[in-house]
Amino acid sequence: MLLLAIETSCDETSAAVVRDGVVCASVVSSQIEMHAEYGGVVPELAAREHLRNFLPIARAAMQEAGVTPAELEAVAATQGPGLPTALLVGFKAGQAIAFALRKPFIGIHHHEAHLYSPWISGNPPRAHFEEFQPNVSLIVSGGHTMLVHVESELKHRVIGGTIDDAAGECFDKAGKLMGLPYPAGPVIDRLAELGNPKAYDFPRPLLNDTNDDFSFSGLKTSVRYFLRDHPVLLESDQSIRDLCASVQAAIVQVLVKKTLRAAQRLGVKCVTASGGVTCNRNLRAELARACNHNRFTLRLADQSLCTDNAAMIGILAERKFFGGYEQMSLDKDIQPGWQLK
Ligand code: KG4
Ligand code: ZN
Repeated sequence: MLLLAIETSCDETSAAVVRDGVVCASVVSSQIEMHAEYGGVVPELAAREHLRNFLPIARAAMQEAGVTPAELEAVAATQGPGLPTALLVGFKAGQAIAFALRKPFIGIHHHEAHLYSPWISGNPPRAHFEEFQPNVSLIVSGGHTMLVHVESELKHRVIGGTIDDAAGECFDKAGKLMGLPYPAGPVIDRLAELGNPKAYDFPRPLLNDTNDDFSFSGLKTSVRYFLRDHPVLLESDQSIRDLCASVQAAIVQVLVKKTLRAAQRLGVKCVTASGGVTCNRNLRAELARACNHNRFTLRLADQSLCTDNAAMIGILAERKFFGGYEQMSLDKDIQPGWQLK
């Protein structure tokens, strides 16, 4: 099946062409620099940028894949969750293209696409569902942090999530308190490399709770009070590196320990992780170390597929078609608050 996929749920405009489980082309245009000025994503600006960028990005993906619109057999787009006006651009454009071509259209749940993205790998990227194993999956981004029990392909159940801030939000807000630019996650990752993770002892919220939930707002607050009481630390580059390493260690320890504990309890032998924070090198290394120690298989989404992209939307859409998914009627609408079950 030859499919055009579209993703515009937040601040990345992305289009991909997928054919028979292979990502033939994937184009992502990030708006991060535009939003950095405001210290976070501004929904209306995001929507306007999507509107401006959508057609050139879709054309670029089709050109790179060497396909014409007439050859497409289906169109897929993110239906939710996400910023309403941002979602609208890609979803309605996808429906319009499907209508014009008289081809099936499918709306995809953004987190469900993240959930299966660790099974996409190689060059060109290809879906490896033949290697699928029941797993516990960590989805960790700027907007979400959740644990999902994936029993079989397309059968999953959310077992826990954050009760306040997402882990990426915690990276970003802690970084802001240290005077780092938005988004601070990648900057903290880099600075932490030369810092001492044991320099400062920040709380590990819910680390020893037996549930699968997370909480990161207390950690952020403790960074705020700590810096209020020790402002001199922000005058030294090495102290900032130590702060970065210490905050990162607290976040990573909670994510890794709770993910592994859920996997052990549920008796699965595989752990997967995806979403923007999965780019974090310390998280990747610590998950690898813990999985190795416990003899679990670990599948991490490829770095290029961790942040938002249409390739994962296309791969899941195609899998759904093969699974007997019924064509979505074109009067369906976006679902900005769609929760993964
Ligand atoms: O998945 P994503 O692109 O967008 C959504 O939030 O849906 O994730 C962005 C988040 C931001 O909070 C960013 O700071 C964080 O992922 N992030 C990282 C790293 N790269 C991105 N956090 C820590 N270390 C990184 N290397
Ligand atoms: Zn995402």
